Amino acid sequence: MTADPLLQPFQLKHLTLKNRLMITSHEPAYPEDGMPKERYRAYHAERARAGVALTMTAGSASVSRDSPPVFNNILAWKDEVVGWMKALTDACHDHGCAVMIQLTHLGRRTRWDKADWLPVVSAGHEREPSHRAFPKRAEDWDIARIITDYADAAERMKAAGLDGIELEAYGHLMDQFWSPLTNDLDAPYGGSLENRLRFTFDVLEAIRERCGAEFLVGVRYTADEDVPGGLTKQDGLEISHRLKDSGMVDFLNVVRGHIDTDAALTDVIPVQGMRSAPHLDFAGEVRAATRFPTFHAAKIQDVATARHAIASGKLDMVGMTRAHMADPHIVAKIMRGEEDRIRPCVGANYCLDRIYQGGMALCLHNPATGRELEQPHEIARAESRRKVVIVGAGPAGLEAARVAACRGHEVIVHEAAPQAGGQVRLTALTPRRAEMMQLIQWRLSECDRMGVTIRYNSVADAGTVRDDAPDVVIVATGGLPHTEVLADGNDLVVSAWDILSGDVKPGESVLIYDDAGDYPALQAAELISGSGARVELMTRDRNVSSEVMAMSLTPAMRLLQARDVTFTVTWKLDAVRREGNRLIAEIGSDYGGVQRERVVDQVVVNHGTRPLDELYFDLRAGSTNLGEVDYDALIEGRRQELLRNADGRYQLFRIGDAVAARNTHAAVYDALRLLKAV
Ligand SMILES: Cc1cc2nc3c(=O)[nH]c(=O)nc-3n(C[C@H](O)[C@H](O)[C@H](O)COP(=O)(O)O)c2cc1C
Ligand code: SF4
Repeated sequence: MTADPLLQPFQLKHLTLKNRLMITSHEPAYPEDGMPKERYRAYHAERARAGVALTMTAGSASVSRDSPPVFNNILAWKDEVVGWMKALTDACHDHGCAVMIQLTHLGRRTRWDKADWLPVVSAGHEREPSHRAFPKRAEDWDIARIITDYADAAERMKAAGLDGIELEAYGHLMDQFWSPLTNDLDAPYGGSLENRLRFTFDVLEAIRERCGAEFLVGVRYTADEDVPGGLTKQDGLEISHRLKDSGMVDFLNVVRGHIDTDAALTDVIPVQGMRSAPHLDFAGEVRAATRFPTFHAAKIQDVATARHAIASGKLDMVGMTRAHMADPHIVAKIMRGEEDRIRPCVGANYCLDRIYQGGMALCLHNPATGRELEQPHEIARAESRRKVVIVGAGPAGLEAARVAACRGHEVIVHEAAPQAGGQVRLTALTPRRAEMMQLIQWRLSECDRMGVTIRYNSVADAGTVRDDAPDVVIVATGGLPHTEVLADGNDLVVSAWDILSGDVKPGESVLIYDDAGDYPALQAAELISGSGARVELMTRDRNVSSEVMAMSLTPAMRLLQARDVTFTVTWKLDAVRREGNRLIAEIGSDYGGVQRERVVDQVVVNHGTRPLDELYFDLRAGSTNLGEVDYDALIEGRRQELLRNADGRYQLFRIGDAVAARNTHAAVYDALRLLKAV
């Protein structure tokens, strides 16, 4: 038997969890009509098949109609949920993976202008900055109704064959009762800690009455709100003891912090550039104090840290949630001795940020996640071996190379630079974003293992490509920054890339005009302000950095607000002219009729990229498909078979930013879905 602490079973009452790795509750926003249907099931089944011991499904599955989801959660108040959850549970149980679900009432952490337009309810009138609804203060009939709703939902999950449930108590209704910041009720549900916990224990009693003593019930809760006036660590330890001593709770799932603003949420669930496992020691303290089964997750991205969490006795079950989104097969790879092949979560938080914008959770690094019904995590070998020549070793080119090599093809990559990475290499120069390079390094090491040839410093023209005698050519040459957007003075501005690459030194008084809303402008602001310069970041949008989503913005904002940086929205740069050694920036507005000027010594423009597509157009005439993509075949996962030129010698495709400026996910998704069928 293996001595790996991570692979030891854990006994949770009657339930044997086969190892120590779990996926904590996270709503990927895959439900259809509030139900976890095929996509949802396939997502969890893939991870169960690969060996994870416990998957805590959903995330904030709603128990009541006045807790409308803010991002497409499961509606646990509907009876039809039983059939869907049973199918999901059975699919995971088939692989020996235990299944639970997180149930909640969101309280004030939602909006009233959703679903049934019922008033938002909480233990007081204080509004949550993030979701902005002013809540109704709960009356006795609200409390009684919601207690019953919790018990009904728990009973549905028991009927669906789940191993257990957990109740959410950080930022939601349950701990809105706990916290002095949000509970201004009188006794019996307000006042002393005992009174503020009463709602929770009433819910637990109702669940136990309905589901019995054997059904597993845990609480995922903040054991320290870490905010003035909120629950302290002492309160948290007291609550932990009371939960344990109640005899109604089987495990504690420890969280530290509060989630009522984007920034606070980011401290609870840290993103790229933030510390690894920041709350692990704290969770360990709760376990040591209570000697009770303790679960925890927060940026434990790598197996070594997870192993330490178990070996040092800080946790009983360790959550690697986003890590399993990036690589569903973590446990299988540990068991096969292939830890070094795990696709690492790079903390980009594309997954979580997207759901807050109404999208479904997708992984920047792994385009098959959430698309298990259509895209493979393991690539099948092709029937015949072909020669695939790829130009460009950025994320698109390397993903194409990896997938083609998995198919068993001979693969040659030409890269003009001395190193791989393309735009990602530039992005990762900002220390806070250094983790991004793992997107490249993982693909390089997979390509290396499969014998892909990468020719660096190889500026491939059409002749170079033809000399390789390819069957398939993939142009993944990316793009170059586009700054020629002004009525006058385009020659006086530099691009964000010029700053990031170090080609242009920062000025002392700098206007950054961000018309793309993505990372380069923020990173340029970071680099320039770091030199002590005064920076104004201007956009014509209503928000700063509108493509950098909520949590991802937090570390950048923290840094920039501490420096001499101002943010200007709804104004746009029209032109730049020189006066002496100064630049005059002429500022206009889409709303019209007004003009301003700024006097600076440097203007930086961020306006995305234009495709580097010359090679593609040079190669088109010699191709069988004239570069055309059969979109139906692409979407349906079929082979590309268009024949537009019988004299053509190769199939030709271009992917990623060589087509149009998009993002890294689009680049790797282009590559996966095209190459998996080549
Ligand atoms: C897409 C997504 C949705 C999430 N939704 C929930 C949720 O509904 N309830 C919850 O308690 N945690 C939720 N989480 C937080 C995770 O359970 C976990 O605490 C967090 O991702 C940190 O762990 P990790 O670093 O291993 O990913 C979500 C996370 C992600 C990525
Ligand atoms: S999007 Fe980023 S944070 Fe989310 S799972 Fe993928 S790599 Fe990890």
